[in-house]
Amino acid sequence: MDFQLTEEHLMIQKAARDFAQTELLPGVIERDELQKFPAEQIKKLGELGFLGMMVDPKYGGAGLDTISYVLAMEEISKVDASASVVMSVNNSLVCWGLEAYGTEEQKQKYLVPLAKGEIIGAFLLSEPEAGSDATSQRTTAEDKGDHYLLNGTKNWITNGNSASVYLVMAQTHPEKGSKGINALIVEKNSPGVTVGAKENKLGIRGSDTHSIMFQDVVVPKENRIGEDGFGFKFAMKTLGGGRIGIASQALGIASGAYELAVKYSKERKAFGKEISQHQAIQFKLADMATRIEASRLLCLKAAWEKDQHLDYTLSGSMAKVFSSETAMWVTTEAVQVHGGYGYVKEYHVERLMRDAKITQIYEGTSEVQRIVISRSILA
Ligand code: CAA
Ligand code: FAD
Repeated sequence: MDFQLTEEHLMIQKAARDFAQTELLPGVIERDELQKFPAEQIKKLGELGFLGMMVDPKYGGAGLDTISYVLAMEEISKVDASASVVMSVNNSLVCWGLEAYGTEEQKQKYLVPLAKGEIIGAFLLSEPEAGSDATSQRTTAEDKGDHYLLNGTKNWITNGNSASVYLVMAQTHPEKGSKGINALIVEKNSPGVTVGAKENKLGIRGSDTHSIMFQDVVVPKENRIGEDGFGFKFAMKTLGGGRIGIASQALGIASGAYELAVKYSKERKAFGKEISQHQAIQFKLADMATRIEASRLLCLKAAWEKDQHLDYTLSGSMAKVFSSETAMWVTTEAVQVHGGYGYVKEYHVERLMRDAKITQIYEGTSEVQRIVISRSILA
């Protein structure tokens, strides 16, 4: 067992850290306040290869491993989780799904520009009436011979407005339940696609979350991913890796808040000494550091299993539930360490606390992760 990061891993970690400090930190408070999508920053992330990190270079990607992806996600999320969710969706849901299951034509047409960051993608599974219970899809993809006719509404779609390409799960054979669902590549500018209003959210306010409506949208048959009825398995397989991305996002949010809390505790004085000299604060910092390290190890273990082509469903869910609960706890404690200053925007920790909450909800709530984990350990 080797806990040492390679030279290449350290280089990628540093590149992501430098990008976060120079490109994301200035303006992060304003973007949160104004709910402004970090368009310029996402473009630059794409140019640096951070939007197709694990994609084979022959499809325009950076050809890196999942460990590199976890390291980069942590660094970007320490500063701006609104940017890192764009990165996570594009890398681990859209690019990975297309590379693993797309046809050569689909890869050339869609994966190449997505991996290069020339365009971004979105993953459309959730609906107003079907979130955790993802098999109860109501969006329909009626088989019309050479094409599907898509009708229905998807909810809470990250990159909903900024994406050019959607991967949409829809029901073709309702009598077959989860085996009747198809995954379709839909271009956002297709006639019949409507983007709903931007959601006004608690956290990750810079990311654009929209509902997407489909009315008689014609989707060519060659845009189906995998065999007829493969859509639900496609979504679950893809989310397996996506959960490693969101776990790393949660890890980054937690470690960002922790680093700010350590720094502040050494500066702020109360009762004649730095607050870091009070044991109550020291113990908080010790618990934060310990939980963050455990989260990091779970994320890296899941990433390593994925890189070794082992089954990473269990480790990915464990990483996600543990890291997201750690993020919520650590960010709350970081606000506490900052006292009143933690409650105002300029100290960053209140935003990190708001951003942390979503990691317990999307890509499978904490309860869903526990369903996946308990099914696996009891099987
Ligand atoms: N890999 C492959 N196949 C899988 C699978 C996996 N990980 N998990 C389930 N399946 C298969 C099952 O084997 C089953 O197939 P068979 O009938 O052939 O055996 C089929 O899928 C149905 O599975 P279940 O019976 O287990 O389905 P269920 O209705 O009990 O639901 C669930 C299981 C885990 C709760 C699932 O519905 C789920 O993960 N829900 C959460 C949805 C979710 O994560 N949404 C995220 C949306 S994307 C997002 O959020 C992005 C973002 O924010 C940025
Ligand atoms: P519900 O499924 O209605 O759950 C409500 C509560 O009940 C939760 O606490 C849940 O854990 C609990 N619950 C449900 N079933 C069970 C059970 N069997 N046992 C125990 N507890 C249970 N979706 C996409 O497809 N693509 C995206 O890009 C995307 N981005 C998102 C971005 C944001 C900001 C948000 C808020 C959501 C996003 N989602 C996206 C949707 C997200 O994945 C869902 O919100 C999530 O899966 C939960 O579904 P729900 O909101 O319908 O809650």
